[in-house]
Amino acid sequence: MRCEIVHLMLVFFLLLLISEASEANDGYKQCEHKVKNWASFSADTEVSGNQHALRDLLLFLHVPRTGGRTYYHCFLKRLYSSSLECPRSYDKLRYNPRKSSCRLLTTHDDYSVMSKLPREKTSLMTILRDPIERVFSTYEFSLEVASRFLVHPNLTSVLTMSRSARRKTSGVSTLDIWPWKYLVPWMREDLFSRRDIRKLRGQVHLVTGDPYAMEDVVMPLHEYINEPITRDIVHNGATFQLVGLTNNSYFAGAHEVRHCVLKYHSLGDYVLQIAKKKLDNMIYVGLTENHKESANMFANVVATQVISKHKTSSSNSDGAGDNDSERHSQLPDMKTDANDKDENIYQNQKNVSSTGKDYAIQGNWTVGKLMEAYNSCVSKLRHSQADRRVNSLKQLYPANFTKEARKQVPEALIKEITLLNSLDIELYKYGQYIFGKQQEHMTQSMVHDEELSGILSTSTYRGIYNTPSWKCVSLSGAALMLLLIFIFICVSSRRRTSKVKL
Ligand SMILES: *[C@@H]1O[C@H](CO)[C@@H](O)[C@H](O)[C@H]1NC(C)=O
Ligand SMILES: *[C@@H]1O[C@H](CO)[C@@H](O)[C@H](O)[C@H]1NC(C)=O
Ligand SMILES: *[C@@H]1O[C@H](CO)[C@@H](O)[C@H](O)[C@H]1NC(C)=O
Ligand SMILES: *[C@@H]1O[C@H](CO)[C@@H](O)[C@H](O)[C@H]1NC(C)=O
Ligand SMILES: *[C@@H]1O[C@H](CO)[C@@H](O)[C@H](O)[C@H]1NC(C)=O
Ligand SMILES: *[C@@H]1O[C@H](CO)[C@@H](O)[C@H](O)[C@H]1NC(C)=O
Repeated sequence: MRCEIVHLMLVFFLLLLISEASEANDGYKQCEHKVKNWASFSADTEVSGNQHALRDLLLFLHVPRTGGRTYYHCFLKRLYSSSLECPRSYDKLRYNPRKSSCRLLTTHDDYSVMSKLPREKTSLMTILRDPIERVFSTYEFSLEVASRFLVHPNLTSVLTMSRSARRKTSGVSTLDIWPWKYLVPWMREDLFSRRDIRKLRGQVHLVTGDPYAMEDVVMPLHEYINEPITRDIVHNGATFQLVGLTNNSYFAGAHEVRHCVLKYHSLGDYVLQIAKKKLDNMIYVGLTENHKESANMFANVVATQVISKHKTSSSNSDGAGDNDSERHSQLPDMKTDANDKDENIYQNQKNVSSTGKDYAIQGNWTVGKLMEAYNSCVSKLRHSQADRRVNSLKQLYPANFTKEARKQVPEALIKEITLLNSLDIELYKYGQYIFGKQQEHMTQSMVHDEELSGILSTSTYRGIYNTPSWKCVSLSGAALMLLLIFIFICVSSRRRTSKVKL
């Protein structure tokens, strides 16, 4: 009798285990199906052709906290007059890019924005940063911006103020920019509630120490990295942005696919392979860490082509192509305060040389002059950003996020961030590989160009780059093998469990 009960219980337990396993298996299978479908669709929509020749529209996929703003202010604004710039919307496009004749679009939107653009006429560029550094920077920047609101007595007064400010500025707010539109209010609320608690407790004496673990003042880093919003928006952000799967995607299915990848880590490899392909097809990939070399390469690879394009187009059309009033009238009134206010709150760059004026005296930039102008612009920008940061962070005293403090962050925490960003880490490695290739190629074509008496011909941007796609093929072959082995193991283990059941 007792034995039977034990038997029954055992059988019941086994059944439970099996049904749970198969449920999880079904969830996995559905996800795998979704991710695979998405991946094959993404692979199919790649535009073929020579991606190293500049096309009509340059799309800068600006991954947040990679230093893209310097490129925008100190390079792109000099190369493209504001009439050639698409109405920039760091939130969502609010114009029809197919109809407008703009040539430059800079955005935090993800790759899915391509579905709105003339794909075959668009060149892409991006900048990648060491993922650990990017997480730190995102955390600190969210805090920096959020801390500026602490001058207010309470959150209610912040919200009333921003509502009236919003009314005044015809509905476009700074905090509409993804991902800050989620990260900053979240941090802001958190900062206020911590301050309220301090006030209630009547705590006057704050101990200085590790700013990343100062829970009386700010959300500790170890908490931040494990919050659902951070998992959704920050970790692996570069990979998701390059493939069009962010929380901000134009593609309706993006969220399901992303959630599947977040749930089943093994599916991440599909996404990574697509992201690598996107990098392969970009006109330019810069690295935040290799700042000087990146800027130099941008000048030689992209800027030279922009300049020569301007030259050809102005000599062909005899200036008629530069009818600014026509261009402006084609665009809805979009270049509003979204940008200007953005600069105000985030950077306060009003006095930095590049804003306001049109520096793009089309055609007569040379690489040397451009680099000179770039370098002085960058140092000004850095100064104003650093000042602003120090001023904002005063509100968080005694938490002060310095380079020294960052070095003290426990190894275990860094490991955790590494694990949470495994896709971005792989992507960054690949970015470094591509960067090396680009550099090799640049040196070669520069030598070649000199031989051709300095005439920049687009034909020098062909070939040589074909190796990465081969690598992809063999990689996906290996992935397929792994997948087959995995399926085999699954099937045989299932067979084993069903034998037990019998
Ligand atoms: C918030 O601050 C405003 C302005 O000082 C004050 O009028 C209001 O009563 C405060 N609200 C709360 C809930 O403390
Ligand atoms: C994006 O993330 C924010 C913050 O977590 C969330 O409120 C929003 O609903 C998300 N959007 C989508 C489409 O998932
Ligand atoms: C520019 O375009 C506008 C509107 O199409 C036209 O009225 C104007 O004459 C043009 N100006 C020049 C200089 O071509
Ligand atoms: C810009 O510079 C002028 C004079 O140098 C100064 O008065 C003004 O306050 C500055 N504006 C900003 C936004 O820093
Ligand atoms: C471009 O040419 C204009 C007019 O010829 C000149 O005033 C300007 O200084 C030049 N710009 C550069 C960067 O050389
Ligand atoms: C934070 O550290 C920076 C750099 O060491 C320093 O310049 C700044 O004054 C510090 N801020 C506070 C509020 O202690």
